[in-house]
Amino acid sequence: MTSPSLDTEYADLTPLQVRIATHQRHSENPDDPVAAVLTALGLTGSEALADIGCAAAGFLAHLRETGHTGRLVGVDTSPTMVAAAAMVAGVTAIHGEAGKLPLQDAQFDVCTARHMLYHVTDPLVALSGFRRITRPGGMVAVTVNHAGACHRTHELVAAHARNYGLTPPQGMINHTVTSENLSDMMQDVFGNTTIEAHDNALVFDQPAPLIAFAEALFTFCGIAADSPHRVQILTDITTDIEQWFIAHPNQLWRDSKGYTVATSIING
Ligand SMILES: C[S@@+](CC[C@H](N)C(=O)[O-])C[C@H]1O[C@@H](n2cnc3c(N)ncnc32)[C@H](O)[C@@H]1O
Repeated sequence: MTSPSLDTEYADLTPLQVRIATHQRHSENPDDPVAAVLTALGLTGSEALADIGCAAAGFLAHLRETGHTGRLVGVDTSPTMVAAAAMVAGVTAIHGEAGKLPLQDAQFDVCTARHMLYHVTDPLVALSGFRRITRPGGMVAVTVNHAGACHRTHELVAAHARNYGLTPPQGMINHTVTSENLSDMMQDVFGNTTIEAHDNALVFDQPAPLIAFAEALFTFCGIAADSPHRVQILTDITTDIEQWFIAHPNQLWRDSKGYTVATSIING
């Protein structure tokens, strides 16, 4: 059996796609995290922009499709994600690690790191790298989750995993990197920051999309894709969720979540 890890999680495009689709379809209040970052940055369209932890480059594809003409570079540690990002027209995809970016100094007008800094062991080293590759006067934008985001569904999956002796792997999530301390970290590294918090919740009125979301959290709860317990755990969770909806007619399964967009300007 493989050990669940960041490498195994992001070797497959599907779980991240399911999580993104779930947030798009099941947020209690309408919210678009891409638009939130773009509003914070106020791009003109000609900027050279590096997106760190770009995954399949959905953000960069959106920029290209909406007329961005500046250079677009995506960096990710996952070979699967880099291969997917490389398929996006007009995007340069690079295999690299946030703490040791394979990019030259002051090459970019803008650096973004959306929902990835909590995967990094030393966030201050990563933020210093973002500062290094961004020119004086340029901007860095970082998004991270609120502490305890989607805790209810995570805990449901984790409890079922524990029944089979499985526990969350070390090193997948750096729990010190949350909305609550992002401002201090950005201030330390950049000397300035503007913060915008987005409070929300996931809401489900039927079992199927909640079960799909729960399954997309399996690696984070220690359940490997080839775990001999995986099928039984999914069966257990399905039963649990279906019974919850039967026992709570006309109620929504609600799970608090939110994220923060922090932007900083590179002082010369
Ligand atoms: C939660 S996904 C976020 C993807 C995308 N930025 C978004 O907001 O939809 C995290 C991504 O960061 C990548 N990643 C994790 N640790 C990284 C690191 N140290 N350096 C660069 N990329 C990393 C993962 O491979 C994955 O593609």
